[in-house]
Amino acid sequence: MEYFVVKGGNELSGDIEVSGMKNAAVGVIFACLLIEDKIVLENMPDISDVRTSFNILKSMGAKVRYLNKTTVEVDCTRAEGGCAPFEMVRNMRASYYLAGAELGRFGKTHVGCPGGCDFGIRPIDQHIKGFEALGAEVSVEGGYIEGKAGNGRLRGASIYFDRVSVGATMNVLIAATMAEGNTVIENAAREPHVVDLANFLNSCGAKITGAGTDVIKVKGVGTLSGCTYAIIPDMIEAGTYMIAAAATNSRLRITNVIPKHLESISAKLEEMGVQIEEHDDFVVVSRDGKLTKTNIRTLPYPGFPTDMNPQMCTLLCLADGVSYLTESVWDNRFRYIEELRKMGAEIRVDGKTAVIEGNTRFTAAPVRAVDLRAGAAMIIAGLCANGKTTIEDIHHIKRGYDNIVEKLRTVGADIKEINVPESSNYPKAN
Ligand code: EPU
Repeated sequence: MEYFVVKGGNELSGDIEVSGMKNAAVGVIFACLLIEDKIVLENMPDISDVRTSFNILKSMGAKVRYLNKTTVEVDCTRAEGGCAPFEMVRNMRASYYLAGAELGRFGKTHVGCPGGCDFGIRPIDQHIKGFEALGAEVSVEGGYIEGKAGNGRLRGASIYFDRVSVGATMNVLIAATMAEGNTVIENAAREPHVVDLANFLNSCGAKITGAGTDVIKVKGVGTLSGCTYAIIPDMIEAGTYMIAAAATNSRLRITNVIPKHLESISAKLEEMGVQIEEHDDFVVVSRDGKLTKTNIRTLPYPGFPTDMNPQMCTLLCLADGVSYLTESVWDNRFRYIEELRKMGAEIRVDGKTAVIEGNTRFTAAPVRAVDLRAGAAMIIAGLCANGKTTIEDIHHIKRGYDNIVEKLRTVGADIKEINVPESSNYPKAN
């Protein structure tokens, strides 16, 4: 059993360096399957979703070699499709990119259905709609996604997504890169990780334009070749540390960021009275006064990211007045609120909106990381609480935050990870 212990009350100061973006990295890693050549990926975050992704590729016959802590050489020349181990695939969400990559390279796919955070139903109908438009016959049977292109190769098509989906946009982009002819994806997601995936594929010889807008055009190419590519910084990790600074009344310099990607987060923080200085590749976040209430609705990029919902909710608990946080991407992203309540938060959920009473004084409690970003929110609440908070189920946090304990300790937080052998009694934290 492993858990974090956070002792609240410390002011934070200094620099935190942001790692490469999880949701870009996992897309790029599975897209490597398309390429029969060596690829060098830089700025890879050291998180379990990335390790699982590489292990899946290795189990399919790819060669994966770490050149240093953040640089990895991948060679999928000898990889085979249809054999990714079910247990690994269902450990993470992004394994669905294997379906697009296998269809693109082998003209067929056999991949277990993905896992990932539990936000209620997470359909993949738009992915399937895209693959079918590209000429594949696709079914989901016995826990597997099965697909086959008519004559062994996908063909370009026009696809209009019924709703904006990051995963479907990236999956269809991967599949269409080597399809015969041209593809147009309309109502595409505009997230920075979609752009990063397109930039990576273009560096390997793909012909993709329009990524970052809602219409992406792909001219299918016959082959792709290796390249060296650096993953963009993780805007959600950056946003999480920005909120940690604001919540603890501190000043942090957050480095290795693209400030443009943080605009929706910065705008809301500024509205609440947090000071943000933007520089080319770092931001300085500080707060020395009261936080003002605000209202937020999560939206696809460039709107306020759903992956900042729990962290922002935690900050709103500290603001003066009642705030409204509306979740419009996921049906069930408020499961963490029960945990925040254990720490003294007064939050009522009314349908898709959390009504947050401000001026909470968090008190330490044993809580769970019910999902990845919920876990980050528990850490933030713990940093503000009076006493020692214990956070269980931290494997969720480790899926997406590179070295979070060490990064926070470096800027003065009192946080540690405890590992207890299964046979021991669970020690009391308070
Ligand atoms: N949706 C459908 N049909 C589909 C696909 C999605 O109805 O075929 C719906 C979903 O149910 C949801 C909405 O569309 O209501 C958006 O889903 P999207 O496909 O954009 O989400 P995703 O690709 O499964 C990625 C991130 C999530 C992040 C969402 C939204 C990865 C691996 N995951 O998920 O990240 O919340 O986009 O931005 O990229 C996280 O990092 O903590 C995380 C959960």
